[in-house]
Amino acid sequence: MADYIGAIDQGTTSTRAMVFDHDGSVVARHQVEHRQILPRAGWVEHDPDEILRNALLVAGEAFQGYQIRALGVANQRETTVVWDRRTGTPFGNAIVWQDTRTDRIAEALNRDGRGELIRHKSGLRPATYFSGGKLQWILEHVDGARDAAERGDALFGTIDTWLLWNLTGGRVHATDVTNASRTMLMDLETLDWDDELLACFGVPRAMLPRICPSSDPSSYGHTTEGIALTAALGDQHAATVGQVCFTPGEAKNTYGTGNFLLLNTGTEPVRSEHGLLTTVAYRFGSAPPVYALEGSIAVTGAAVQWLRDRLHIIGTAAECETLAARVPDNGGMYFVPAFSGLFAPYWRADARGAIVGMSQYDTDAHLARATLEAICYQSRDVVEAMQQDSGVTLDVLKVDGGVTANDLCMQLQADILGVPVSRPMVAETTALGAAYAAGLAAGYWNDTDELRANWHESHRWKPTWSPQQRAEGYQRWHDAVRRSLDWIEI
Ligand code: G3P
Repeated sequence: MADYIGAIDQGTTSTRAMVFDHDGSVVARHQVEHRQILPRAGWVEHDPDEILRNALLVAGEAFQGYQIRALGVANQRETTVVWDRRTGTPFGNAIVWQDTRTDRIAEALNRDGRGELIRHKSGLRPATYFSGGKLQWILEHVDGARDAAERGDALFGTIDTWLLWNLTGGRVHATDVTNASRTMLMDLETLDWDDELLACFGVPRAMLPRICPSSDPSSYGHTTEGIALTAALGDQHAATVGQVCFTPGEAKNTYGTGNFLLLNTGTEPVRSEHGLLTTVAYRFGSAPPVYALEGSIAVTGAAVQWLRDRLHIIGTAAECETLAARVPDNGGMYFVPAFSGLFAPYWRADARGAIVGMSQYDTDAHLARATLEAICYQSRDVVEAMQQDSGVTLDVLKVDGGVTANDLCMQLQADILGVPVSRPMVAETTALGAAYAAGLAAGYWNDTDELRANWHESHRWKPTWSPQQRAEGYQRWHDAVRRSLDWIEI
């Protein structure tokens, strides 16, 4: 009987399980959404038990009837959970990557020399985005958490760790290098938790998981049902694997709630001078780790949701494309959706959303178009920073994620970047990457060449704007970003 590889992709808004065959084609899938808990402005939480229930549910549905040789887990990154080792009960909700309650912690670190230490060792700049500050917050604010952590009774994990611990019946407390590289607690060179970094956040080492390779036959054990768990990696890293970006200079851009562009930089970490993060792209078994430069953008697809849920100018996200297509250009309007401040390459928590350049002539269609352009201009900012940091010039941009179903947006991306944009046949690159990592460790695929052979393009968008149109548009975009950064002084 043929066997298959399973993947669980636990994302920010939903959890899906998928089954892949040897060609990398999807043969089964199941997906459910979970609640976004928003107790106060700027706070975003998830219920860890709900996430676990959903993971078990989707895996049960998708895997039924298939012989699963091995299972890989991909997850929303940075989201932080602490739970009791003895009972498995969480110390409150998970604090999600988008949550900004730790802004004071990040500011304090940036004000003194510790910010530089964190940047150097972890490759990250102190920001509310990463796990270290969220863990510090839990230890300081949740009753009993610090005492339990110091006794060794409270465990920390990102969502991969939480799922692995539960899937194995509490036998495995582990994370992978990619997830650990999003905490501000791991040294990028040693790939181990670092005492100086732990001291910055007051984190007891006893509560931390073992750091393992992303793909490994023995690190993660088996599920209580006996399925081999052979891979874990952060979702953006999994998408990098799913897009087969195995050679230095290859990059992918995932379009979801936010955008995450990762460029493979090879086996040495490249320190960014232009506002990007240094992260571990993946580590397969005992091979040297492969590093990436990452440009994280907080609000892209979420800006389309804002048009739908707050302004009500569209009924579905897909309608953004039809509305924007009613006009030939943005009518002079530029929209900077800095709803969570601006992430890469600006890293300005104080930036705010701005719509500039409007005239009475403009309509909702121009705003829809400006929203799609904002997704693409933010990506160009990140690509520019990446080229400056790495010296690598992209000759094509590989894309994936929900927004890539929007043809107009992808055409605008090619026009704004001035390079072709290419989407693969399998759009579920995150789950595919988790499956690839799991299947490599289980001997289902022999090497990355086999995976490369599975990658097929489904569509390519070529640039159509003149160089002058591209340069003028980008100049205007930066004028708009300046307003978003300096809005109080205008
Ligand atoms: O860093 C956050 C990122 O991992 C979230 O990805 O696809 O779950 O929104 P997604």
